[in-house]
Amino acid sequence: MNPFSLKDKIILITGASSGIGRSCSVECSKSGAGLILIARNSEELQKTVSMLAPDTKAETIMADITNTANLEELIAEKISVLGKVSGFIHCAGIEKTLPLKKHTSQLYTDVFAVNVIAGFEIARILSLKKYKNEISSFVFVSSVAGMVGEIGKTAYSASKGAVIAGARSMAMELARGGTRVNSISPAMVNTPILEKMFENIGEDAAEEILKKHPLGIGQPEDVANACIFLLSDASKWITGSNLVVDGGYSVH
Ligand SMILES: NC(=O)c1ccc[n+]([C@@H]2O[C@H](COP(=O)([O-])OP(=O)(O)OC[C@H]3O[C@@H](n4cnc5c(N)ncnc54)[C@H](OP(=O)(O)O)[C@@H]3O)[C@@H](O)[C@H]2O)c1
Repeated sequence: MNPFSLKDKIILITGASSGIGRSCSVECSKSGAGLILIARNSEELQKTVSMLAPDTKAETIMADITNTANLEELIAEKISVLGKVSGFIHCAGIEKTLPLKKHTSQLYTDVFAVNVIAGFEIARILSLKKYKNEISSFVFVSSVAGMVGEIGKTAYSASKGAVIAGARSMAMELARGGTRVNSISPAMVNTPILEKMFENIGEDAAEEILKKHPLGIGQPEDVANACIFLLSDASKWITGSNLVVDGGYSVH
């Protein structure tokens, strides 16, 4: 069997209504996975479902993942339909580019709630034996901003650094139970989050950022394919790592 295949694996994906999460959903379905897809926007979530490979088994959860109180119930209900989960991609995220003087404690709270806490809470739920297969893999989509400094990104960078560090400790803790945990750090990828950021920072700053990518801006499927590798048996000896997928951005 092709070690990169996701055939018969059930994968839960947050952020499935847009950008990288949508691409992860489509590419995982093409690799044979069944899917539990989470986001708030039901129309966009249904659009993702319409893009999946034919005959893909898919369930959707319309929820704000920062409301952690009923997440377990919602996830358990879908697992009872599709079967135990073999993989998790935490792709939901919010990005804010603002000068430090505009950072408020509410901003830090909001960014951490989605980027870090919701992802770790879902990982906690999925680490329970009743919900996961013996062998499973969790992937957290972080960012190069969690590794290198970027102006205006104090809250965002801090959240993405927290994801990388938390995933590493989670990997240590869950290894004995058969779960691998890794993060992926993309640089700029062509998605709505990027369009919003470019609107905020102006043309010159955007041009500067583009110049820093030796291989140009990434496409969502560049990150999705890295996720598939980390979810598949091809990466069965990899845990606690942070896979940098950045077109060379962090090389210099
Ligand atoms: N694009 C880039 O250049 C880039 C670079 C590095 C890292 N990343 C990371 O990659 C991930 C995906 O980014 P993207 O560019 O694909 O972003 P995007 O197109 O803006 O999508 C963000 C996703 O997160 C979901 N989301 C946000 N808040 C949520 C909440 N409270 N509850 C449930 N879902 C929520 C959104 O769904 P709803 O609005 O439907 O809820 C949407 O599906 C993020 O973690 C981002 O930080 C992106």
